[in-house]
Amino acid sequence: MQKSVSSGSAGPKARKTPNPKKKAGKPESANAESTSKLAAVIKALAAEQEGKPGALLSILEKLQDQDQFRHLSEEALRLVAEITGEALSRVYSVATFYSYFNLKPQGKHTITVCRGTACHTRGSLALLQEAMNQLGEPDFREDEEPSFTTSDKLFTVRTVACFGQCALAPVVAVDETIYSSISTTRLCSVINAIRKEEKV
Ligand code: FES
Repeated sequence: MQKSVSSGSAGPKARKTPNPKKKAGKPESANAESTSKLAAVIKALAAEQEGKPGALLSILEKLQDQDQFRHLSEEALRLVAEITGEALSRVYSVATFYSYFNLKPQGKHTITVCRGTACHTRGSLALLQEAMNQLGEPDFREDEEPSFTTSDKLFTVRTVACFGQCALAPVVAVDETIYSSISTTRLCSVINAIRKEEKV
């Protein structure tokens, strides 16, 4: 969980409920193996959390933290419901209520652009557009999608309503680091430094 930005990113959000019947594109045997591994992980988490307050929330949090792409798949949510005995609708409502949870695979690095009023008036839209240009997605529309992940799963770009640091606007978080009064030039150099480090 992002330490310095968690309070700004928590809270309700609107997301589509995924279709539980949608099939993945893997061979059946590989699917069966990965499903049984996932079920074993969830059973262990459910046993660990049994009888504790907020058990469902803790199971989902730990499950996402263990996932390679820091997300909760449709299959994972379905298995959580089956194994814990919770209604599938309740599992989905918890997973979609907290912005900490991701229903889509996330990139290794997360760029979070604040789009609150103070940051907007100090150029956060230009920062968001620059980030998307840099990552090859100039047509990204924040009003249509809550986040964007590059196809190589190196970066996810998302927005937040306010980091609570309006006096330092515009504010952008890159992974655990908060950049205040950041310019587009500075943001580009941060992205390029990560690419260099990742040898992309
Ligand atoms: S509006 Fe950006 S930190 Fe508050």
